[in-house]
Amino acid sequence: MWPYPRILAHRGGGTLAPENTFAGLRRGMDFGFRAVEFDVMLARDGVPVVMHDPYLGRTVSGAGHVFDYDALELAQMDAGSWCGADYRGEPVPLFVEYAQFCKAHGIWMNIEIKPARGFDRETGETVARITRAMFADEITAGQGERAPLLSSFSLAALQAAKDAAPDLPRAILMSELPPGWEPLARSVDAVAIHANHSHLTPALALAVRDAGFGLFCYTVNEPARARELLAWGVDAFCTDRIDLIGPEMA
Ligand code: G3P
Ligand code: MG
Repeated sequence: MWPYPRILAHRGGGTLAPENTFAGLRRGMDFGFRAVEFDVMLARDGVPVVMHDPYLGRTVSGAGHVFDYDALELAQMDAGSWCGADYRGEPVPLFVEYAQFCKAHGIWMNIEIKPARGFDRETGETVARITRAMFADEITAGQGERAPLLSSFSLAALQAAKDAAPDLPRAILMSELPPGWEPLARSVDAVAIHANHSHLTPALALAVRDAGFGLFCYTVNEPARARELLAWGVDAFCTDRIDLIGPEMA
């Protein structure tokens, strides 16, 4: 039912490198990871970049919103210094280059569509269209499990992704599963539910899997909790602590 890797490095390389950077991917690979979650949003020119926050200041030196800058301007900015002097000059990755790096290195991707407010459909459509084109050969060859899984908290982004690339799988992100989680997930033909593990119970985990969905949790940083969730039947999760939780745990 879950044809993908089961343990993913969160935001590239967890907290062992600046999030959503190439340095993070390399750090993850050092620890044996070949599966990753990262966040994507649109720059001013509509070009997707790998970024978590919709504004600068925390991980990227500077001020303003991501949509105040073109992608190539963002790609010149420093997304590494906040994590340590060794990472100074680490750029904001262009999504296409980041995904190509992953593909070339056999790193499976869970791409979180992270639209800035008001850009839900545009972001979902753009990310899905680019990803679908990049993995056209694998999908045609019946190797769909090698293509990325798109996820989002935004239903509108997921709907747009579905319209643009119906055969690319989608997952719905929900921090705490609301009473109507199942129809919500079905409304975008989601194959999986991505839930905050802190709100999960064994009964909910069972219900999600009984309903035929994959179950992914974020963000699991303690080995004992990771083992507990796996025992509950959780299919996969992402972790910040790639040094404590290795890809071989599941
Ligand atoms: O995709 C799982 C997780 O990354 C969602 O939360 O804020 O870390 O993007 P966040
Ligand atoms: Mg994320």
